This record gives sequence, structure tokens and C-alpha cells, in this order.
Amino acid sequence: MSFNTIYLMLMSVRMAPRLPLIFLLMIHGVSSAGWGVSYRHSHICALKNSSVIMSCTYTYPTGYKIKKVFWTTNPVKGKESPDLSEDPEYRQRLQYLGDKQQNCTIRLSHVTQKDEHKYYFRFTTDKADVKWIGDPGVTLTVTDLQVEAPERVTEGHNVSLTCKSSCTLTDRATFIWYRNSQPLTERRDRNNQLLLQSVRREDAGRYSCALHGHSYISPAAHLSVTYPPRSVSVSISPSVIVEGDSVTLSCSSDSNPPALNFSWFKGGMIVGSGRIYNISKISSDHSGEYKCRSINEHGQKDSAAVTLNVMCEFFY
Ligand SMILES: *[C@@H]1O[C@H](CO)[C@@H](O)[C@H](O)[C@H]1NC(C)=O
Ligand SMILES: *[C@@H]1O[C@H](CO)[C@@H](O)[C@H](O)[C@H]1NC(C)=O
Ligand SMILES: *[C@@H]1O[C@H](CO)[C@@H](O)[C@H](O)[C@H]1NC(C)=O
Ligand SMILES: *[C@@H]1O[C@H](CO)[C@@H](O)[C@H](O)[C@H]1NC(C)=O
Ligand SMILES: *[C@@H]1O[C@H](CO)[C@@H](O)[C@H](O)[C@H]1NC(C)=O
Repeated sequence: MSFNTIYLMLMSVRMAPRLPLIFLLMIHGVSSAGWGVSYRHSHICALKNSSVIMSCTYTYPTGYKIKKVFWTTNPVKGKESPDLSEDPEYRQRLQYLGDKQQNCTIRLSHVTQKDEHKYYFRFTTDKADVKWIGDPGVTLTVTDLQVEAPERVTEGHNVSLTCKSSCTLTDRATFIWYRNSQPLTERRDRNNQLLLQSVRREDAGRYSCALHGHSYISPAAHLSVTYPPRSVSVSISPSVIVEGDSVTLSCSSDSNPPALNFSWFKGGMIVGSGRIYNISKISSDHSGEYKCRSINEHGQKDSAAVTLNVMCEFFY
């Protein structure tokens, strides 16, 4: 083993303090005999439909000639390991980037959850009884993205949305956010979070996230922005009211959630409730200024006063 290799290994043990010492000893033993496979990552977390590079190097003693290099999954003891590049599930997606000397790197593209296995590099030499399989292999985990967001937020409040993956992505990733399928240009995100400060009604919509340079987009999560009633108004029908008519006053307002509680006032006195206020057999006593009040859990608002004029049949 060269000085450089020892140094690198000590570094990696120091950087991953929980790595069992036995691992170092094992590699040490293997490498000192001149045989060995080492993987840059023993675990890879990749985004669905992305390409994964499994970086790998191998060594063998001088005097041997490499006959075959290939990758395999889930080896079975006593059975010949299948070459993944001959597997129809992999053939189109697997590319050997390495060589027949020391580099055994591969690329697997368009990964799916079905690719979650342990991958091993294997090589055979011209001396038939010597076959090597590199332990510990590379464990591949494939994740999708999910937007975590509250269902609703009140106008003026702050809210943060999180783009979640089931494992920590191996490659450094830049997150992109979409609202109603439009990319958000205003950058208010940090790591995998989108911060919406002092939320406005326009912030409501379907949010999804993605990684820069990747085609996969998460399913959308709907964010609803709640607010107290506004634009409260009263309409009266019929428009011309004659004594004895049935008259309907309706209150309309814009709020989220929709207001279910309405009160009616005549000259400051409460006279009824409900979105519709009916007066059957109207008389001149009903003339006056009416207002409605719309109430939801975030607040209330009164309409402008409307004047109800009841005409006498005589004049009509
Ligand atoms: C192995 O080959 C890949 C692809 O050509 C290259 O990116 C990588 O740097 C090589 N690794 C080593 C250790 O030479
Ligand atoms: C929202 O965040 C800003 C900046 O962090 C802070 O100043 C403000 O008080 C927050 N507002 C609410 C309602 O929490
Ligand atoms: C997978 O990625 C390819 C490009 O690499 C893209 O054309 C395709 O639409 C993607 N499929 C899905 C389901 O995202
Ligand atoms: C409607 O709002 C008033 C005033 O806040 C409250 O007293 C009343 O209980 C509410 N009624 C309903 C049915 O929620
Ligand atoms: C008000 O009157 C209208 C028209 O006569 C009727 O359809 C409606 O059911 C009434 N509503 C209430 C709350 O009494």
C-alpha cells in the first residue's frame, strides 16, 4: 500500500468517526495483498429519473491480467454473478466509464425505486480461480420529492414550505420552486425551504419543487391563504318595492373561508341573521337604512348602508 493510500484512509476514518475500525483493517489487509476495490460512496441517495455515477477504483497484484470487469447486484454465494449490462432492465441505462486497469466507475441513468439495491464491482483475471468482488458495494436509494406545507395560512403571517426527500441527496442540489407550474423568480428560498413572508392572497396556489438540472417535479401541494371578509355589499330585490311585497336582502362578501355568519342591522339595531334577510309583506315601517355584517374566524366587516324605500300602492 502506498503512502498516499494510507494517508487518505486515515483521513476518511477521521472524517467519519463512527466508521468501525474493523473496516479500515479489512481494507488494509486486502490492499496490502494488492487486491482491492474501493467505492467513493458506499451509499448514494439519488433523485428519481436522474443519472447516478458510482465512482470506483480497483487494484490487483502485478502478474495478473484482467479478463472481465462488470457490475452486479445481490450476489448469491456459489452462483455466477450476473453481469448487469446483460440484464434487459439495465442494458440501456448502464454505462461503464472505467477501464481495464484501475477505474471501475459506472453511470446508471433514469433511476427508479426498482433500482434500490447494493451494487458491486466484480472482476476476473486470466488465472481462472481468482475472482474478485468488491465489498461493501454501493447501496443505492432513490427518492422522490414531496412538498411539505400547511394547508392554509392566514394573510400577513409567515409560512415556510419544505421540499422533502426520503434520504439526503448525495449530490449538492439547488432547489427550484413552482407555483401553479410557473417557476418562482423571486428568490425567497434557503436550502430546501421556501419562505413566504407576510403572505398575500396571490401567494395561494399549487406549489411544487424540483432540483436544478433535473426533470423530475414533485407533486403539488395546495396552499390556501385565509383572510377576513372584504367587499361586503347588500343587494335588494325587487328593485322597486311596493307595500305588501316580499323583499329579499342578500349580503355578499369575499372571504376565506367563506363567511357563514351574517348579521343584519337597521339603523344600528340588529334585526336578523343569515346571508339572506327576507321581509314578507313589507310596509312603510320597514323603510330605513340597512347594513349587513359578514363574519368569519379571521374577522368581520360591515357593508355600506343601503336605503330601503317602500312606495305606497297609491303612488305607484
Ligand atoms: C474514472 O473514470 C471516470 C470517467 O472517465 C472519471 O470521471 C474519473 O475521474 C476516473 N477516476 C479515477 C480515480 O481516475
Ligand atoms: C415574518 O418574518 C419576518 C422576518 O423574519 C419578521 O420580521 C416578522 O415578524 C415575521 N412575521 C410574523 C407574523 O411572524
Ligand atoms: C426523465 O428524464 C428525461 C430526461 O433525462 C425526460 O425526458 C423525461 O421526461 C423524464 N421522465 C419523467 C417521468 O420525469
Ligand atoms: C355569529 O357571530 C356573532 C358575533 O361574533 C356571535 O355572537 C354568534 O355566536 C355567531 N353565530 C354563529 C352561528 O356562529
Ligand atoms: C327568502 O325568500 C325567497 C323568495 O321568496 C325564498 O326563496 C327563500 O327561501 C327565503 N329565504 C329565507 C332564509 O327565508
